[in-house]
Amino acid sequence: MRRVSKVMKLLVINGSPRKSNGTTDIILDAFIEGARSSGADVEKHHVVDLKINGCRGCFNCWWVTPGKCVQHDDMDKLLPSIVEANVMLLGTPIYGRNVTHYLQKLLERTFVFTLPEMLTRNGETQHPTRIRRFPRLVLAATCGFPDTSNFDIVRALYPMALPILLPAAQLLFYEEGKKHLSGFIQAVKVAGQKIAAGEELTDEMKDQLIVEFSDEMKREILEMHNKYSESRSPK
Ligand SMILES: Cc1cc2nc3c(=O)[nH]c(=O)nc-3n(C[C@H](O)[C@H](O)[C@H](O)COP(=O)(O)O)c2cc1C
Repeated sequence: MRRVSKVMKLLVINGSPRKSNGTTDIILDAFIEGARSSGADVEKHHVVDLKINGCRGCFNCWWVTPGKCVQHDDMDKLLPSIVEANVMLLGTPIYGRNVTHYLQKLLERTFVFTLPEMLTRNGETQHPTRIRRFPRLVLAATCGFPDTSNFDIVRALYPMALPILLPAAQLLFYEEGKKHLSGFIQAVKVAGQKIAAGEELTDEMKDQLIVEFSDEMKREILEMHNKYSESRSPK
């Protein structure tokens, strides 16, 4: 008899070109640590290490070779990983209020999972998917400004994703900042642990995954940034 594996698969994609030197990766690793403690099987990629072209819009994956893309690059390996994953954790720095184009290219290529027909669901027209289920989505985003409004566009684009949002993420590079954000990092670990265990997060836990700075803290962040910027500027 074929044994059905119950191991939860977590696919992690980091859309930052700074890879492990950046701030987004710190959040991803915290989530991974939590998920591993619940026994998750983790596959992680830095998108900039992969060769992924954007979608060509040829619609061959609908009409000529259904479900197959005409392009052959690292998406050949990644698409089956997406199908197998129970949870997909996307990490991105905010670039121009959006996800990075590295991540966007990858997401465009999941078009191959859609069927051509249109149907109405919850009052909106959609394409049904060819795959049995899309993984549960978690979106971890970081940005440089201290205001969470910088995440508005990505939150609107991925309303189905659990948001993990850190503004002024550069604070993670400083001892004081790390101390200030230790509760947030711990909350991310707990989220990874719970989600990998198939548990739901309480509203309180979800709130802890979105960092909101007070006006006073925002002023301090600006001051700190401007001082740093002055020290780095060519004299
Ligand atoms: C090209 C570019 C565009 C950016 N656009 C924004 C932006 O619209 N809003 C913002 O708050 N931060 C912006 N940032 C700052 C990054 O979001 C921030 O530094 C992020 O934490 C970097 O993540 P990483 O360390 O994982 O690479 C931008 C940075 C770059 C390089």
